[in-house]
This record gives sequence, structure tokens and C-alpha cells, in this order.
Amino acid sequence: MADRKRLIPGFSRILHGGDYNPDQWLAHPEVIDEDFRLMHLAGCNAFSVGIFAWTSYEPEEGRYEFGWLDRIMDRMAEEGQKVILATPSGAKPAWMSLRYPQIRRVDRRGLREPHTGRHNHCWSSPTYRQKVRAINLQLAARYHAHPALGMWHISNEYSGECFCDLCLHAWQRWLEQKYGTVDALNAAWWSAFWSHTFTSFEEVDPRDGSIDALKVDYLRFNTSQVLDFLRWEIAALREHSPDTPCTTNLMGLFPWLDYSKLVEAVDVIADDQYPGFVPDDPDVFRTAIRVSFKDDLHRCLKPDRPWMLMESCPDAPQWKHPVRLKRPGVHQAEMLQALGHGAEGTGYFQWRKGRGGCEKLHGAVVDHVGHEHTRVFQTVAKLGAHYQRLTPILGSVVESQVAILYDWEVRWAFEATDGVRAHPDTYESVAFDHYQALVHHGVSVDVLSPERDLSPYRLVVAPQLWMLKPGVAARLRKFVEAGGILVGTYYTGIVDESNRCFTGGWPGEGLMEVFGIWNEETEWLPDETTRRVVTEPTAKRLALEGELVAAQVCAIAHLRGAQALATYGEDFFAGSPALTEHRWGSGTAYYQAAWLGADFFQRFYGALVRQLGIPTALSAPLPAGVLVQRRTKGERQLLFFQNYSPSDHEITLPAGKYQDLLGQVPVNGTLRLPAWASTVLSSA
Ligand code: GAL
Repeated sequence: MADRKRLIPGFSRILHGGDYNPDQWLAHPEVIDEDFRLMHLAGCNAFSVGIFAWTSYEPEEGRYEFGWLDRIMDRMAEEGQKVILATPSGAKPAWMSLRYPQIRRVDRRGLREPHTGRHNHCWSSPTYRQKVRAINLQLAARYHAHPALGMWHISNEYSGECFCDLCLHAWQRWLEQKYGTVDALNAAWWSAFWSHTFTSFEEVDPRDGSIDALKVDYLRFNTSQVLDFLRWEIAALREHSPDTPCTTNLMGLFPWLDYSKLVEAVDVIADDQYPGFVPDDPDVFRTAIRVSFKDDLHRCLKPDRPWMLMESCPDAPQWKHPVRLKRPGVHQAEMLQALGHGAEGTGYFQWRKGRGGCEKLHGAVVDHVGHEHTRVFQTVAKLGAHYQRLTPILGSVVESQVAILYDWEVRWAFEATDGVRAHPDTYESVAFDHYQALVHHGVSVDVLSPERDLSPYRLVVAPQLWMLKPGVAARLRKFVEAGGILVGTYYTGIVDESNRCFTGGWPGEGLMEVFGIWNEETEWLPDETTRRVVTEPTAKRLALEGELVAAQVCAIAHLRGAQALATYGEDFFAGSPALTEHRWGSGTAYYQAAWLGADFFQRFYGALVRQLGIPTALSAPLPAGVLVQRRTKGERQLLFFQNYSPSDHEITLPAGKYQDLLGQVPVNGTLRLPAWASTVLSSA
């Protein structure tokens, strides 16, 4: 492919479009005609078509009807629109479910599911695979050279698990391949516990919740099943369409599939988001932080490939109760936020509201009224016009000297373990705490797996790196030795890749030496309980003085070469270090033995960022509720601002001349950002 960072080869616009379901309107050609008029008015240029259209493609077994799609594709090409053409495997036809019951999933209780809903086919069924292959071949053969075809959209939001005999067999073969012998599995799983020692792979039931390692391995296996299915789908398309990029739409931080593995098969990262920014929600800014974190993670999933927001809601999804309308300004802010984090386009679920089905009240660009004179349509159309002015951002990049480590397998192992403060969503929310403090200082952050190359970074933050997969400790050690700054926390280096505790002291695998501490015990506090922490004079260089407050988790650690910057001030914890610093090789490792709160995080990271001279978007921290992202194109700086707060803000810009790309006006010195407003500035 010519340009691996472009969504669609040769496509020189910011992608703007959404899920388009003309298959629901085939009896109303006048509506489809109207769609094309409205698409232009909305400034849209690309649509995902056919995601749930299998029965329209193949109304009965082996009889294909593509006339309707031919007309849509031709019309799209005539109108200068691109199509992200979907494979329809996300929802199987009822005739297929009845004729081939084996394609339906078997649930945890061993019961075959009826034909309902969607996203519920068996991952292993050879019959379903053949059916999918047949329809994908048809689509690829017919449309591979069509001028409207821009990308392949593989299925929809893969998820779920199946416990049929074939899937159980696949699980047991996966274990056999991974462990070789059942003795090796027993050793890795510590299965003498509760007499779980197995004598053959056939005895291993994936539903046994008492073995921590099994739970993690089962999720690894399920990811490999889904990846295999994804590859199977793509292989059929590739027979006729070797070059058109393929994508599949992901679901943010969806906990049950390891997206870092799944994306191995795709050319473009695509994500769906429904954050629901509710203006009177006191946590609305935290929602924005979560979205930013997720965006940075998705941008980093495949650094040499582009990413886009595939689905978002231009108004309110019907499934978020109560149903709150998207207040003016918020939609633009949400879309610019994605672009600021490096997205090359944004799309909607859905283009037009259907008249029936459980999503008939889901927000859409075109409402049931059918014309363009609606608040939501006008918002989208205005954004479409803005996107034309933003074309210069294409080809710009997000550059970062700071990485936060986030990993699905670490999360699984952490959450599979009884006795740690892992629920609800603590693995993510603690990562957000660290992240929020960094973005408050206007720092660009890459979010990535600990297995990635860390050498490009100055600062690496590893919140709750519970599990150390092979090679990770060595990589961290090398990073610090070479001059990097590493920040670790309690719950780090506790288990190996089989969720077996390290013996000989935590953090394990030699990280005790790097951090210069031994973490002896860890306490999970009730929500309302806190513990006093007293800073040492030396902590001043990290902007810390006086007392801090520990909450959530407090560990008792011992110095083994590190220096205490703060110690607990009460209880039998008194005197034991809560924050340490250890020079190691040419770098430094910090250890936070307790969760020390938002104010601490802001001071600590602010000081590190200043000391390291890490570039920031602005010279002062951001006001509460405001986000900024920075993309660069050579010398040109592109600053994306969103105000997710009900207050107006004035922001002091770095020295230089700026142009507001949306308003097409110069802005120098100070940017006025009213409540819920957003914009993009470009340096001259
Ligand atoms: C997504 C899904 C879409 C639609 C949407 C509603 O998760 O991919 O098909 O159902 O949710 O919000």
C-alpha cells in the first residue's frame, strides 16, 4: 500500500461519515435518493455499508442478490463518496440458524442459544466459516475494483465466547500446543491446589473459576479464536482484493479481548465510542480523560498504521438510561478530541434512524422527520464544513516522550486474583489517575503494552504492572540503566505470565534491585479510610512538601538502596516509605507504595516533566475541564482544544502566531474558550 498512514489510499480528506443501512430502506427508493442529497449537505464522504445486510445479500441459501448494492455502490462513486464495505458475519440469517443449528453458540451452562439478536455465532463451526467465506468471496469478487470501495469493514464489534464441543476441543488443543505436556500445564497453573492436577488436556474445563491461571489462559485462547476468525474473513477477501485496507471496529478498552493481538490482522485501527458526556454529571471531565486515554491507546496499537473513530453518536444512544440529549458544543468537542489524538477521520452510528428494531430511537444524523432542519443534522453539517478547513492536519503526527503501560493480560491476571483492589475497573482507573495528571500539564502520552520498545521515551509510567511477562522486567531494567525515568507503584511485579506469585520478594524478576525497595505487604483500604504521609525535605524537588494523604492501597516497603521521599505518618505503617527514588544506571526509578491522590499526581508529574524538559502543548497547566492535544507537521504545531466544563476559560498560548482553523481568524496571546467550546489552532 502506498501510504501506510492513510486510511484509504489516495483519500485526501478527513474521513467523515458513518454506518449507512440502505438495506433497511429498499422499499423506499425516494428515501435513498434523499440520503444522497443529505450526505452532501452534511459534508460526509465515506459510509460503512452492509454491516447487518446478510439476508439482503443472500435471502435464501446460495441465492445472492447484489442488484441493490450495485446501485448503492455506483451511486456512491458518482457522488464522490467512499464505501467501507462490510462483511455481514455479525448477524446471521434466521434461515441459516435454523438449518445449521451448530453455528449458534453454546452458553456457559452448555445450552445451545436460540436464533436471536446478533454477535452470537460459534467461533469454530466449520459450517459458519464456510458460509462466511462464501459471502466474503462474493463481495470481494464483485466489488474489489469498484471505484467507491475504500476499505473493508470486517464484521462488527467481535465479542463473546462459545462452549460447544468444537470450541472446547479447540481450547484443549490450544493448551496442548502451548504447554506440550499436561505436566507442564499443571506446573504453570499450580494445579495441585484443590486437587486440580489434570491427567489429560481433555479434563480441562474452561469454566473452572478456581484457577487464576486458567482464567487468564482462557481469555488468551478466546482472543486467539477471534483473531483466527478475523484472519479467516480477511483471507477470503484477499483472494480477490489483495490491496484494499481491512479494518474491524473495536470497542475502546473492551476488557475481554486483547486488542493488541487482534489488530495484528488489520491495516487500519477503527474504534467505536459512546461516552455520553452529560453536562450536569460531576464526573464529565473524567469521562473526557477516559476517552483521551483510550484514543492514545488506539493510536499506539499499530504505530505505523492510521486510526479512526468508526462509530460515535451525534446525539444520544437509546441504550444509555436516562436518555440525555447531547448538549450544544459537545459533539464537536468529542470529534476534535479524536482528531487531536491522531485520528484521520470520524464516523457515526448511525446515518439515518430506522423505523423499527430496538435501535429505532438511537441518535442519528438524519432523524425520523427526514429533512435537514434538525439541531443534530445542523451540528453534523457544521462539523463537515469545519473538516474541510482542517484538511491541513492530515499527515501530521502526535509525538510523545512519555509512555504509560497498559496491557490486557496484566488486567486479566490482576482481576482474576482474589484479594487485590481490582474491582470495579481499578486497573484502568488507576492508569487514568496517572494519565490525567500528565495531560493536565499538556503532555502527549503514548499508551502501550509493556512488550513494546521503550527506548524512544524519556519517562515510562507503569501503574500496577501486576504481571511481568517474559522479557518485560529486563526491558524496564535496560530502560532505566540507559537513563530513562521509570515510575512504578504497589501491585507491581507480583506474578509471572501464569499468574503465579514470584517468590523471593516483590517486585519480582530483579525489579526490587531497579526500584531499590522490597514491598513486603500490601493493604487494600476501605473507601473512606486514609493514612497520613509525611514528605522528606528532599521531596521539595518534586514539588512536594508537608503532608500527603494515602488512600485505596498502602504497601509496606523497605529501602534496599532507594531513598524515601515520603513516609507514612501513622499507625504501624509509621516510618515506612510511601514514595521512593532510586538512581539506577544512568536513570531513576520511583516507587509509589501507596495511592496518593490527584493533587500528588499533578505535583509529582509536573515536577518530572519540568525537570526532564518534556515538551508540553502550553507553558502553564490546563484549567480544570479543559483538554489540549498537539499534532505536529514539521515545524507546524496544531493545537486541539476542548472545554468539557460549564465555565468559560482563557488560555495563555505559547509565544508565536496562531490561526484558528475553524474560525479562520488569527489568535495571539490568549485563546477564549467558552463553556463546552472546542477549536483547532495552527501555528504560522
Ligand atoms: C455499537 C454497534 C452498532 C450499534 C451501536 C449503538 O456498539 O456497533 O451496530 O448497535 O452500538 O450504540
